[in-house]
Amino acid sequence: MSSVFQVQEWITSHSERTELALDRLLDSAQMTPHRLHEAMRYAAQGGGKRIRPLLVYAAGQLGNFSEADKTASLDAAAVAIECIHAYSLVHDDLPCMDDDDLRRGRPTVHKAFDEATALLVGDALQTRAFEILVNASCDAHVRLKMITLLAAASGSRGMAGGQAIDLESVGKKLDLPGLKQMHAMKTGALLSCAVGLGGIAAQLNLAQMACLDSYSKSLGLAFQIVDDVLDATTDSQTLGKTAGKDAVANKPTYVTLMGLDYAQQQAKELQEEAIASLDSFGASSAQALKDLALLVVNRGK
Ligand code: IPE
Ligand code: IPE
Ligand code: MG
Ligand code: MG
Ligand code: MG
Repeated sequence: MSSVFQVQEWITSHSERTELALDRLLDSAQMTPHRLHEAMRYAAQGGGKRIRPLLVYAAGQLGNFSEADKTASLDAAAVAIECIHAYSLVHDDLPCMDDDDLRRGRPTVHKAFDEATALLVGDALQTRAFEILVNASCDAHVRLKMITLLAAASGSRGMAGGQAIDLESVGKKLDLPGLKQMHAMKTGALLSCAVGLGGIAAQLNLAQMACLDSYSKSLGLAFQIVDDVLDATTDSQTLGKTAGKDAVANKPTYVTLMGLDYAQQQAKELQEEAIASLDSFGASSAQALKDLALLVVNRGK
């Protein structure tokens, strides 16, 4: 894949695959309790760039396993990571966290439903993610590795821990290493996990997994830097979420700490580092991961 057309075609087909897998693996809104299941679907299915599922599929492409095995393990991993991500957004938007009314161009879950439902949506999406991995039709040792990785990335040493640092840091001036750690945990951990899940499903060896780890660490940091930049430079309608929120809420970000130019330069350097980490893979098998690194850093431009 190299032309713009081929990149777009790959993204469109794998985004559609994600939507179908989400629809299949989430509980029906007809199931009791209806309102909770409806709100879970609202949170998980209402748009979004689906970057994490795309990373799962792109990393999964590095292995040579059968189409049937691929469908079973990659779809489960793609939906599981998106469920955790959707839950993190629902909780991130709650009044006790970032207090946001707009997400993916629609009212946030606590606005469209209510706060208690939003809390439960997060809880239930999280456990559903693990249930989906437990039930994936692939080898037990592959499932165990995926579950272990997702648990570590989601919890206090990963996303939830990063969110705790974010909340603790309001009104404070973090130093650069502190800011990097917060970004790596609150955002980088789930992005790295997405890539890792694809690699595990593809049964890559340790050296290959190490290359993926290096790719995804650079990409994860770049992703949150770009999110900080877009918050400061783009309007709410384009973003589908409230713009200018970080400055109003007095959050330390790459933009407030280092300035816009430095932040943009840093994102570009990290994108180059991420792509260079893939050198040892065949050019065509790693092309989707390279294209996603370009997409992440250039989005909004
Ligand atoms: C937003 O993530 C939250 C961050 C971790 C910065 P995305 O930008 O991937 O949000 P969606 O899924 O596309 O809505
Ligand atoms: C959120 O970071 C990271 C999460 C774990 C959800 P932000 O608070 O910057 O994300 P947005 O800008 O609200 O999407
Ligand atoms: Mg936040
Ligand atoms: Mg937020
Ligand atoms: Mg943000």
